[in-house]
Amino acid sequence: MTTADRYVEFATREAHGISPAYERLAHAVARDDDLLALLDGLPPARRQPQLLLGVVRWLGGPVDDPSAFRAYTKAHWPAIRAAMLTRAVQTNEAGRCAALLPVLAALPQPLALLEVGASAGLCLYPDRYAYRYGDHLLGGGDPVLDCTLTGTGPPTTRPEVVWRAGLDLNPLDVTDPADVGWLDALIWPEHTHRRARLRAAAAVAAADPPELVRGDLVDDLPALAARAPAGATLVVLHTSVLYQVPPPRRGAFVALVRALPGHWVSAEAADVLGWDADALPAPPDGTLHNVLALDGTPLAWMRSHGQEAHWFG
Ligand SMILES: C[S@@+](CC[C@H](N)C(=O)[O-])C[C@H]1O[C@@H](n2cnc3c(N)ncnc32)[C@H](O)[C@@H]1O
Repeated sequence: MTTADRYVEFATREAHGISPAYERLAHAVARDDDLLALLDGLPPARRQPQLLLGVVRWLGGPVDDPSAFRAYTKAHWPAIRAAMLTRAVQTNEAGRCAALLPVLAALPQPLALLEVGASAGLCLYPDRYAYRYGDHLLGGGDPVLDCTLTGTGPPTTRPEVVWRAGLDLNPLDVTDPADVGWLDALIWPEHTHRRARLRAAAAVAAADPPELVRGDLVDDLPALAARAPAGATLVVLHTSVLYQVPPPRRGAFVALVRALPGHWVSAEAADVLGWDADALPAPPDGTLHNVLALDGTPLAWMRSHGQEAHWFG
């Protein structure tokens, strides 16, 4: 796939209907030979649309007008390039906990939560956030995570988490303003509600920071899992991570997690775990949905940020 193709795919499959600004910019980049030549000077893994757009926002560049974006990107390319080589797309979305909650709350309690690809660890606090499923409220305080659920009832309790730990190639620190600033820049321009949610979730996590281990989800998982306390159900969890992992390593991770005691909860694009989307019930509409699964069994379509989850009949 060419860089232009990647930007068109991002515009049509990911940004369309969600971020008009990013949809416009990604289409404009795909048509711009100068910007494509700059991007093609980066390693392929660093040419990602979300990385470019996040870095330009992080540096204070304009993202509302394609010609202003183009001029800024060309004029500031050395700084943009340097940030694209050091920063990574690590969007950490606490909202995903709302879609995971029906699964987590139904497992034998208490839980020992181990998240791989945890970023700053905001998905390690499903027991501390408040939730709103239609008119059904659960818990109190900030943030309140909204989710439209179909095909299953809303959970009536939050899980009890007695141990939480995360593993990431590059853990971010919720107590470091620069890291929280980067997470903020990764949020798409129109999503002010997500920006407020990030700040509120980061405050929850910063009050009791998670243990985050720098490491790889295959090489370093067994040692971390071995530290989970006896008497709690070990849950290995990951959301929107495996698309960043090369396919042979995904297979090694799946074999590893299946051999561990406890349960495995995943929310990933269907093809990433080798599922044929055509063999699953049809997703609710044409937008990108992940598959929420328990122990390798697909349960529901989930919108990427946890704002909807549709259980299979
Ligand atoms: C898009 S972020 C998702 C973060 C979080 N799971 C969420 O849903 O909010 C993906 C994360 O996976 C991490 N990651 C990618 N490959 C990894 C690997 N092989 N081992 C551990 N972490 C990895 C990245 O560093 C990044 O923080």
